[in-house]
Amino acid sequence: MQNNYKPPPVAEAYFFDLLQSLHYFYPMRILITNIKQLCQIEQPSENKLRVAGRDMAILPSIDNAWLLIEDELIHSFGEMATMPEMNADEQIDASGRLVLPSWCDSHTHLVFAAPRDGEFVNRIKGLSYEEIARQGGGILNSARKLNEMDESELYEQSLQRLHNVIAQGTGAIEIKSGYGLCEEGELKMLRVIRKLKENSPVAIKSSFLAAHAYPIDYKDNKEGYIKLIIEKMLPRVAAEGLADYMDVFCEQGFFGVPETERLLEAGYKYGLKPKIHANQLHHSGGVQVGVKYKALSVDHLECVGEEEIASLMGNDTMPVLLPGAAFFLGMHYQPARKIIDAGLPVCLATDYNPGSCPSGNVPLLLSISCTQLRMTPEESVHAVTINGAAAMELEKSLGTIKAGKIANLIITKPIPSLAYIPYDYGNINIERLILKGNLV
Ligand code: NIG
Ligand code: FE
Repeated sequence: MQNNYKPPPVAEAYFFDLLQSLHYFYPMRILITNIKQLCQIEQPSENKLRVAGRDMAILPSIDNAWLLIEDELIHSFGEMATMPEMNADEQIDASGRLVLPSWCDSHTHLVFAAPRDGEFVNRIKGLSYEEIARQGGGILNSARKLNEMDESELYEQSLQRLHNVIAQGTGAIEIKSGYGLCEEGELKMLRVIRKLKENSPVAIKSSFLAAHAYPIDYKDNKEGYIKLIIEKMLPRVAAEGLADYMDVFCEQGFFGVPETERLLEAGYKYGLKPKIHANQLHHSGGVQVGVKYKALSVDHLECVGEEEIASLMGNDTMPVLLPGAAFFLGMHYQPARKIIDAGLPVCLATDYNPGSCPSGNVPLLLSISCTQLRMTPEESVHAVTINGAAAMELEKSLGTIKAGKIANLIITKPIPSLAYIPYDYGNINIERLILKGNLV
């Protein structure tokens, strides 16, 4: 006779509660064994805040390793030859596979309403990024679309993009506003980012970038827009705790150095440290103003020479290179070698946005940094792990494989070497992901 008995829901709920409370006393453990190479490790005695200059060439790793995760944290790791006896709820055999910390992508504009493929074609036909912007396209085009879209749809689209970049190995990400360019639009974007923070297993930081472009209504009243940002938007953003950082597109034709200074000072009054767009299109003084205002990072840096490098020396401001934008806009690349050879750190980020880099694919970014910036695979991995974490103030909890850090990890497919990741360009060699100690 068929047994149709189903325990009543209340019993199921009781059983679930019991499991939860057992979990409280007995932490969940995942043991990964036979790891071909455990990359970017950090010993308990170290306090790695960033990696700079020549040190970027060496990626500390263990061949033939094991790693234990307990709940959401990395518990311990070592060589297989000396692995102690251990119990685990789940065991993963990583033979032939590399394990790395997840990517930390410190500069994106992942919340947007529509692609800009029409502008892409116009650029192929000869229009420049700046000409398109002057004709009301570019950022203003994105602002029009964003202000027409309601918050829930914007959230759903952005969540989809976030899921895609997570599948490509991203475990921490910064996301900017800057396509609202009006009080309601900017707040809408920041609320979407907050909702992504609340509902995603990855670490998310948000930057307030109302100073991304002057909106059409303020074309002839630039002072009015700056006042709107400082007097109206910033107090609301701060009161609702919607942003971690203050961003400005410091560039000729956008926000000049004096305007940037006023905006950064205003941000500081509300506790927002700067992370700014600098020197993308011209030697605009953005790097120097960022250093002067102790920006956490100055980002883009296509137009960087001796003066900019000199101003970065001896300061904590992180140079963040966005070669995906230079690639997509057909511009010259950032002088990564000069920056590293000067002894500075380099961080790489995607700049994922609908205009200058419609891709948040970090493995592809690594292929670009190796082939076009002549950064080695080891330097490139430092740039998107510990240095990316530092550019988001997450270096104490992410960016290396260290006991006590959050277990956000990439397990690759079987691959011959670390170099294979950027070498096999356009492909994603990730087999499994662990976020906050959970297999995803
Ligand atoms: O970082 N340069 C300024 N902002 C973005 C692009 C914005 C856009 O074109 O939508 C960037 O490249
Ligand atoms: Fe950007």
